[in-house]
Amino acid sequence: MERRPRRPPLAATLLSTAMFLRCATAFRPPAAARAPTRLRASSSEAAAPVARRTVTRRILSGVQPTGSIHLGNYLGAIKQWVDLQDSLSVPLVRTEVNEKTGAATEVTEVTENFYCVVDLHAITAQPHDPSALLESTRASAALYLAAGIDPARSTVFVQSHVPAHSELAWLLNCVTPMNWLERMIQYKEKSAKQGDGVGVGLFDYPVLMAADILLYGADRVPVGEDQRQHLELTRDIARRFNDQYCKGNPYKKRCKAAGLPSRPVLTEPEAMIVKEGARVMSLTDGHAKMSKSDPSDASRLNILDPPDLLRKKIGRCKTDSMAGIAWDDPDRPEAVNLLNIYAAVQPDRSRESIADEVRDLNWGAFKPLLADAVVAHLEPLQQRYREVREDPTYLDGVLAEGASAAEEVAGKTLHAARTAMGFAPRT
Ligand code: TYM
Repeated sequence: MERRPRRPPLAATLLSTAMFLRCATAFRPPAAARAPTRLRASSSEAAAPVARRTVTRRILSGVQPTGSIHLGNYLGAIKQWVDLQDSLSVPLVRTEVNEKTGAATEVTEVTENFYCVVDLHAITAQPHDPSALLESTRASAALYLAAGIDPARSTVFVQSHVPAHSELAWLLNCVTPMNWLERMIQYKEKSAKQGDGVGVGLFDYPVLMAADILLYGADRVPVGEDQRQHLELTRDIARRFNDQYCKGNPYKKRCKAAGLPSRPVLTEPEAMIVKEGARVMSLTDGHAKMSKSDPSDASRLNILDPPDLLRKKIGRCKTDSMAGIAWDDPDRPEAVNLLNIYAAVQPDRSRESIADEVRDLNWGAFKPLLADAVVAHLEPLQQRYREVREDPTYLDGVLAEGASAAEEVAGKTLHAARTAMGFAPRT
């Protein structure tokens, strides 16, 4: 397997791998404006002295290493991460002109990607199996790499290797009202299943997730639809923290003493959710999302399922008895889901061409097509996965470098949060 070079020093990474994201084409200025030395400006603006500024934007996301990563995790999250990482390999350079003075500033927008295996989240379903946790943590990291996350362009790390996650979670616990967490749909659903023994960790889980995001000042978080509420909570927590602790003269004094800027410490993130076919549904119930916690393995397509098993699961998946295969009929949730999957694993095809192909097919004819498309999409990924797992030194190296790079960023936010809250500085 071709190995990419290890992560270069952070500053070099910023310059060489900067990316701009989301609707890149929509926001992308004309070529002249992107050229660092040319300005999109009138002649009077061009005469003004040019200042330069670099803005760093961050993306962070993660998947829990519980059980196998399935097609929902892949299509809803990981594939998006890869697309974001790959689609924008050129820094966005734009010119801002001060309307009063006419002075131009050349702003270079760079994006840093952080993708973590959120192992601390994986112990909220009690009791967890320690040896399974180790294996699934490594498997998840290997899968990120196999799916196309490139350690030279993204920081890949294990959440528990960066203790700042747990510490910030505690600080945020102390600013988060209980009733905000009581409203969390996932908590309600999972605690109902777990019954009386439900742990505090499950209740508190969204605060840890908020810490994951806020530590990196991530302003964009690519996740599936089911995480939207947790993202909204993260925004609320950030706002409350900033309101409670990052205002007024005493705050400014503490910042000055610590040599920190006295701006709000936490950045409110935005969710980035795939629009079409955002939720991959269960193979056995088109109304339920595909989930690791479904006791039936037949309900999901795991990314590492061998081709035969993928074909078998698709061959047996639930369908309906209506004629033809239609996309947009809400009364046919299984048909919509299977077509969404069919489209997602063939990203180069239009919805129209797929709709034309399947309109008159019956399920017996469609299922093998779907199985072929899923297998063709996943096989190269599975091959890369095997290669990564055969080289544990490489994987360890990526995770060690990832943890150091993550720690550097996370440590700064934690320090600022501690200062804002008035903790004694360590001398
Ligand atoms: P988790 O591990 O349940 O799922 C990981 C990602 O997969 C998405 N996803 C789906 N997308 C589409 N269809 C489905 N059936 C489906 N099932 C899961 C999820 O939306 C998610 O994006 N709390 C998170 C993990 C987490 C996290 C974070 C995410 C912890 N800290 C910080 C982002 C940022 C979770 O349990 O995801």
